[in-house]
Amino acid sequence: MADLLTLTPPMPGAAQLQCETDTGIATIPLADEVSFGSWQRGIPEAYWSLDAEELTARIGAARKTLGTRAVILGHHYQREDIIEFADERGDSFALAQYAAERPEAEYIVFCGVHFMAEAADILCAPHQQVILPNLEAGCSMSDMASVPDVLQAWRELGEHFGTTDDIIPVTYMNSAAALKAFCGEHGGVVCTSSNAGKVLDWAFERGKRVFFFPDQHLGRNTGHAMGIGLDEMVLWDWRRPAGSLGGAKPEALDRSRIILWQGHCSVHQRFSVTQIEAARQRYPGAKIVVHPECRHDVVQAADANGSTAYIAKYVAEAPAGAIIGIGTEINLVSRLAKEHPDKTVFCLDPVVCPCSTMYRVHPAYLAWVLESLVRGEVVNRIEVPAETKRHARVALERMLALK
Ligand code: 13P
Ligand code: SF4
Repeated sequence: MADLLTLTPPMPGAAQLQCETDTGIATIPLADEVSFGSWQRGIPEAYWSLDAEELTARIGAARKTLGTRAVILGHHYQREDIIEFADERGDSFALAQYAAERPEAEYIVFCGVHFMAEAADILCAPHQQVILPNLEAGCSMSDMASVPDVLQAWRELGEHFGTTDDIIPVTYMNSAAALKAFCGEHGGVVCTSSNAGKVLDWAFERGKRVFFFPDQHLGRNTGHAMGIGLDEMVLWDWRRPAGSLGGAKPEALDRSRIILWQGHCSVHQRFSVTQIEAARQRYPGAKIVVHPECRHDVVQAADANGSTAYIAKYVAEAPAGAIIGIGTEINLVSRLAKEHPDKTVFCLDPVVCPCSTMYRVHPAYLAWVLESLVRGEVVNRIEVPAETKRHARVALERMLALK
């Protein structure tokens, strides 16, 4: 694997790719994927050995047969061999909005991760069914906030402050439906990386403090951009024993405006200020844009930060010849490099940085769920229980209503 610093300077007019992954991930049969053992094994064996050509043909045929009955949504981090079939692609906010506003399709095949499919199920019309091609496509950040841990923290906050009435719970989209429901029931709201600032403004109009989970970095970066001091934010370490206030000092809690859950994204935590400095040294004049799930010092050292859709727009709007270093998942970076051959687009991390759970949506799974639909069989439906759905919808709709 080539290292960013050992490569020759970019050729004008050519996308300079920095590591093997930047050239795209080739489709190999499911059975040859090294991690297949931990993916959804329930997929019939007939799909295990299909090659790229067979998969492309079968997915294409099934899509054609289903026509407008099925819509395929693809998150920006999906692999190339999936995104090529997406009817709509976007960041998690745009895809949630799509699910809320487009009742035409009977089936929403969500090529993304579990929390995104849940959000689509919460927001779509009752006659629509949401399908996640690989049920093992989760999100490790979302898994860092469990319902019992959040409830325990909420109880402890109530005991410490004497009430939770002036604490507004805000959950990042990357969380379980049950936590969105918790926010809906407790005067709270959902946010995504594209509207976290607006959502925090909304929250501070209603309460004195925000309890933000699960991504500490998005919470800290957003709070800081709003002028909230780092000393007005306190970290809640959910791994600490119950009763220990998540390791926070009582006086730090008392002066806090944002209580940050100690969660993170392992893909975005890889980006560092050292990488940004190296990129700037190598390519003077380079612009650096990162996702706000990156650490605070990384976001501060970058020229811009925003959601996956923001990053795509940033690259699209940059002038020809621009050199742009990006701190986000490699499938998006690689796609942007290919789509903008007149610009030099590269990933800040010289080592591979894919989201391993997004990657689990292999085309064999897409072929399987689509061909099942053609036969009239729904497999891998994501169905949020009615009571959870009711409350979670409140929190999601509060977010969607913010202009
Ligand atoms: P976006 O909302 O920016 O698409 O981000 C989703 C995500 O999971 C980033 O890691
Ligand atoms: Fe979750 Fe990170 Fe993957 Fe986004 S990139 S889905 S936050 S693990």
